[in-house]
Amino acid sequence: MTTSERWWRVQARTAPLRPNWHTESSRDPNFLWADKNENFDPRIAQAVQKTLRDLPNHLVGSYPDLGPVYSRLTDFFSVDNGQALITNGVDEGIRLTFQLAQSTGRSIFMTAPTFAMYSVYAMALGIDAQTFTYERHRSGFALDTDQIMAAIEKLKPSIVFLANPDSPTGSVIPPEVLLKIMDRAGKNGTILFIDEAYYPYSEETLLGEISGQDNLLVARSFDKAFGLAGFRLGALFGNEGLIDSISRRRSMYEIGAVQAFVLERMLKKTSLLSEVAHDIRNAKREFEARICSLGFEVIPTDGNFSLILFGDQRDLVRKKLEKTTLYRDQFGHPSMQDISRISIVSKGAANSIAFQIEEAVSQK
Ligand SMILES: Cc1ncc(COP(=O)(O)O)c(C=O)c1O
Repeated sequence: MTTSERWWRVQARTAPLRPNWHTESSRDPNFLWADKNENFDPRIAQAVQKTLRDLPNHLVGSYPDLGPVYSRLTDFFSVDNGQALITNGVDEGIRLTFQLAQSTGRSIFMTAPTFAMYSVYAMALGIDAQTFTYERHRSGFALDTDQIMAAIEKLKPSIVFLANPDSPTGSVIPPEVLLKIMDRAGKNGTILFIDEAYYPYSEETLLGEISGQDNLLVARSFDKAFGLAGFRLGALFGNEGLIDSISRRRSMYEIGAVQAFVLERMLKKTSLLSEVAHDIRNAKREFEARICSLGFEVIPTDGNFSLILFGDQRDLVRKKLEKTTLYRDQFGHPSMQDISRISIVSKGAANSIAFQIEEAVSQK
């Protein structure tokens, strides 16, 4: 096979997992967007608009000076200078870490189903990926973590990627189990990458462990609970040596000057950010209580999304929501069969969706 044939094969396998801007139509702004686990709390949008009014002109035309945003970020997360790398969303942190894995020539472990870009990067970079599949129970999705630990011992992968909570499963591995995995990984020369994109919707975190560990990376997003997906912002945390290895693979400037300005200002708004996350968690609780009272099964999740089994009323609900709301009910993975995922993007949107579902069921 020639290099170009190989390239096209990789393209063919990886392309469908991402949006294709040349063929897909844009999302209708008149719809409720509950399909991508975003956060449309109006208080965040207002705070960003206000911040942008202070944007100095020179930042529009200049390459970024990222010292101030790093200083704010390391303070905000209580980590040392050198223990953080700002990225274009967790997505870029995943890609850079896959590039580190590629340089070792060893395999990686990942879960299924999970965020689509894990398999995209494994395929695109030609990395051998061992997949651990979730089992679905009424109480939620679960992984066989003993199996993962045994496989680490046997196969000594370069990196184990675990999203906590994962998506679309919404499942969480308790920190004490993660610490055991980290310990086993450390003994086998394996890095543990914890994707905490949904923090603080789920407050479980291993961030406090990075200092003493030379095999732990923790990824955080500002696109989910912080509501800044329009700016594509995330960060990777680890000890200085690990962050340096990842940083060597980054582009000249990790983010732009306008992104940095907004992030630096928004990181000062600690009480707004925790208030919004708290309100979204409450909105999710209320939304799920309304859905359960209609007799539908809700699979417990951490994260700003609800997994619902509408059973024989799935088409009825779809017919009602398809005129107003974007949400997902096709995941292409057997364990997600028959599940609809509705993102809780604001209190108002969650109320409106619950109301429509109640209407659909009452009109039956
Ligand atoms: C588990 C998980 N990790 C990472 C991401 C990507 O996050 P970001 O927007 O920060 O790139 C997502 C987005 O949906 C996700 O669900």
